[in-house]
Amino acid sequence: MQQEENQWGSRLGFILATIGSAVGLGNIWRFSYVAYDNGGGAFLIPYFFALLTTGIPLLILEFSFGQKMRGSATLSFAKIHKKWEWIGWWSTLVTFVLITYYSVIISWSFKYIYYAFTQAWGSNPEAFLYGTHLNLSSGIDSLGGINISILATVALVWLINLVIVYNGIEAGVEKASKIFMPILAVLMLIITVRGVTLPGAIDGINQFLEPDFSALLNPKVWLAAYGQIFFTLSVCFGVMITYGSYLPKKSDIVNNAFITSLANCGFSFIVGIGVFGIVGYMSAQTGQPINDVVAQSIGLAFIVFPKAINMLPTFQTFLGFIFFLALGIAGISSSISMVEAVVAPLMDKFGFSRKKAATIVCGAGFLGSTLFTTGAGLYFLDVIDHYNMQFGVAIIGILEAAVLGWYYKAEVLRKFFNPISNFQIGTWWDIMIKFITPLLLTIMVVKSLITEIS
Ligand code: PFF
Ligand code: NA
Repeated sequence: MQQEENQWGSRLGFILATIGSAVGLGNIWRFSYVAYDNGGGAFLIPYFFALLTTGIPLLILEFSFGQKMRGSATLSFAKIHKKWEWIGWWSTLVTFVLITYYSVIISWSFKYIYYAFTQAWGSNPEAFLYGTHLNLSSGIDSLGGINISILATVALVWLINLVIVYNGIEAGVEKASKIFMPILAVLMLIITVRGVTLPGAIDGINQFLEPDFSALLNPKVWLAAYGQIFFTLSVCFGVMITYGSYLPKKSDIVNNAFITSLANCGFSFIVGIGVFGIVGYMSAQTGQPINDVVAQSIGLAFIVFPKAINMLPTFQTFLGFIFFLALGIAGISSSISMVEAVVAPLMDKFGFSRKKAATIVCGAGFLGSTLFTTGAGLYFLDVIDHYNMQFGVAIIGILEAAVLGWYYKAEVLRKFFNPISNFQIGTWWDIMIKFITPLLLTIMVVKSLITEIS
């Protein structure tokens, strides 16, 4: 059962916490390269389509479901009927797996905050990241080779997760979000302003925004857009259900969902402009085509950015520090939301105290993370992320929309949240939840299964 103290202190606190969860590593590096890879400016079309038809409707669904049931994902599903509780546990498991590697990427950001002072990555950031720094080999053979300095940083990340979640919703998560979010906004503004004012920036930004409309005919692009929307809005991970459950009874749902989505996507877009400004500058300096500059995924943050910093005319240390600090803060404010979404079911189901549940989750999470600090870490990260997203998140999305839309009934939820929201949602929402979302997601999952098998 949830105690009274598990409540947001203010509406602003709730909004900052949900934006904190949404804005993360996914916005800073993932969005830019996914957009660029999938048609550049044209990607924004499926992205907004996915946002409007699935992202925002699911966010409204999760906020209101949690608020009505007053429980974590597991308890909320159990309250509709015992037979659906496992959907909640499935999403809890997926979220737990996600934090184990998400925390490791945060730990790299932490290390890079420190490296920025000496540009420790040297003249070849790629060799630094993969070679000296991560000590990676190409397969699982170097499993035994745990990297102690990364392990220590991962422990620090988990300690921060623990301290914040241990302190509860208002004194922990909400307070942290109120500190982190304004700082993050300022940091990103500095990066974007610097990015767009560099010589050559405009070419990078043009490449980023210039639409390749033929990409719209490619199903892979649509899949990427849906994947990015789920990841970026933190929906289907139990997080927004749990955060919704800490809302006071009469809180607005619809407006809060719109504010969270807009802030999150606006942030991605602005950062994308800044990042591509910097990419444009690099391409102008080196004569390397922009395509080649952005070719790597994880590398966009940990290889391309260090390279860019090496090339900056002034303020190298300052900008490196700001960028990796922003990445670290964005990461932590997301990881605490995932930890909370795993802690809450343990409190609900087993009656654990928050302190006990948080200690168990962070201890186990740290152990899980060690897998990614081995020489084979990146290899595991790739494989596990792929299956976790493909068979975890997308299927949870289908089940959630179908069970809540048909079994619990979308109309029932809408009649619950409309009267307490100052913006009214029409029957279009029921149609999204009952038909469009499960249908589109099913097509996507089946399509990717087929590509996987063949
Ligand atoms: N939304 C976060 C990002 O874009 O980095 C990632 C995330 C947070 C995913 C919380 C899932 C989650 F439950
Ligand atoms: Na995000």
